[in-house]
Amino acid sequence: MLDTSNRPDLPPEISRRRTFAIISHPDAGKTTLTEKFLLYGGAIQMAGQVRAKGEARRTRSDFMQMEKDRGISVSASAMSFDFNNFRFNLVDTPGHSDFSEDTYRTLTAVDAAVMVVDGAKGVESQTQKLFEVCRLRDLPILTFCNKMDRESRDTFDIIDEIQENLAIDVTPASWPIGVGREFMGCYDMLNDRLELMDRADRNVVAESVQIDGLDDARLDDLIPADLLEKLREEVEMAKELLPQLDPQAVLEGHMTPIWFGSAINSFGVKELMDGIGAYGPEPQVQMAQPRKIAPEEKKVAGFVFKVQANMDPKHRDRVAFVRMASGHFKRGMKLTHVRTKKPMAISNPVLFLASDRELAEEAWAGDIIGIPNHGQLRIGDTLTEGEALRVTGIPSFAPELLQGIRAGDPLKAKHLEKALMQFAEEGAAKVFKPMIGSGFIVGVVGQLQFEVLASRIEMEYGLPVRFEQSQFTSARWVNGERQAVEKFADVNKQHISYDHDGDVVFLTRLQWDIDRVARDFPDVTLTATKEMM
Ligand code: G4P
Repeated sequence: MLDTSNRPDLPPEISRRRTFAIISHPDAGKTTLTEKFLLYGGAIQMAGQVRAKGEARRTRSDFMQMEKDRGISVSASAMSFDFNNFRFNLVDTPGHSDFSEDTYRTLTAVDAAVMVVDGAKGVESQTQKLFEVCRLRDLPILTFCNKMDRESRDTFDIIDEIQENLAIDVTPASWPIGVGREFMGCYDMLNDRLELMDRADRNVVAESVQIDGLDDARLDDLIPADLLEKLREEVEMAKELLPQLDPQAVLEGHMTPIWFGSAINSFGVKELMDGIGAYGPEPQVQMAQPRKIAPEEKKVAGFVFKVQANMDPKHRDRVAFVRMASGHFKRGMKLTHVRTKKPMAISNPVLFLASDRELAEEAWAGDIIGIPNHGQLRIGDTLTEGEALRVTGIPSFAPELLQGIRAGDPLKAKHLEKALMQFAEEGAAKVFKPMIGSGFIVGVVGQLQFEVLASRIEMEYGLPVRFEQSQFTSARWVNGERQAVEKFADVNKQHISYDHDGDVVFLTRLQWDIDRVARDFPDVTLTATKEMM
């Protein structure tokens, strides 16, 4: 059993928790790896559901189908499972790059990320983007190089590419023996073991042989001579040329250990999970105002990082996903909803145990619980036992695409407003109400979001909508003293709109508009992000 005490001062229930996300380029193997995690976590029945979701992502129409099938997408949004001494909380990140804002927010709820790269393709564009987001928060990253059962790149090449493209030290936790058809397993560099892959049974845990260094005579019986010679040479070179594992550097996000494997063959997955336990961080201190929140604090605090609405279209319910930041939560507790200062009895929280969605009788710092509600809980909201704390660092980004939106039936404008407000609160789109004229403008990061939005409004509210070209291309929040903002709005009416919180937004056509404001209106500033609260 592995030691769970990176921080022996934490209560054991907290120090054994590992809350993480998987980042990868589509097709690298995130879904397959998730499935195998759950398999080892003792939740085999879930594996099929995750697969269903992975495949659903592939095409646009299937994506809509997935959106219809909200049950699946929600139960897979956060999954908890036990392995060895650890409780893993895996938070799903949307696969499509058009949902990058959602991904960013998801990454505010985890303490580490597993980066999956395809052994033949190395670092791909989406991996790079997501990595940069992790870097902003210095998230520790553990790397899994997948598909080693296929023709892959040279091991040193892969490591070099990660080091160079992502500017992070890479240390091999395992070393592959052979590639492609010849791939037979890995040498576990951290535990001096051989892990041998069973190609015949994809769901079987690899055979593990404890050895005594690479000069151990037993190796001659286990590995063909040419592969053994290559392995010895490469490992010797790796030890000379590559940095040694430094757990502190991993925790600080400067170094990533890399495991090689094949998710589909369940190979290397167990070692990766051991690695997340041993080198991944326990629940971390949470940034908040006016003070930080430490996980070991006795009082419960948590924050909403995701809202999913209309999971059951018959009841307009929503589930707010809450990351517990501190304390020991028990079902039925009354928490304060800091934004409105109102008490909330949390009587039906759900825990997404991999096997099922269950009532959460308790939760500790690090856990993710779902709180069903009728719209009171929004992204960025903080829940505490009374103290006025506000978790920070959950931004909303300026949209990159804007379009006008109208109800197909003009008499349904009020209905449309209601639907749009709900999607804005869920974080699915930005919604702006122009100061002049009627109608709404919606803003998104990627084109696919428009399509999903239209399809959901039709499905969940029975409202066909149409989009109209907008003269504007981006938006900026206007900050400053209230009077200055009002005055600014008054003289720039054509550009002004209000977001769903009622904050003033300046709609822009060109960079020139933004430069003009900076020049002519020194009392206000324009920002491309806004803290959600
Ligand atoms: P994603 O969620 O990152 O998009 O990837 P996913 O797990 O869906 O995997 C993408 C494809 O790669 C799938 O093949 C999957 O079976 C395959 N794959 C995953 N891990 C490995 C591996 O270790 N070795 C090999 N050779 N293939 C792997 P597919 O043909 O798209 O789907 P399917 O028909 O296999 O389900």
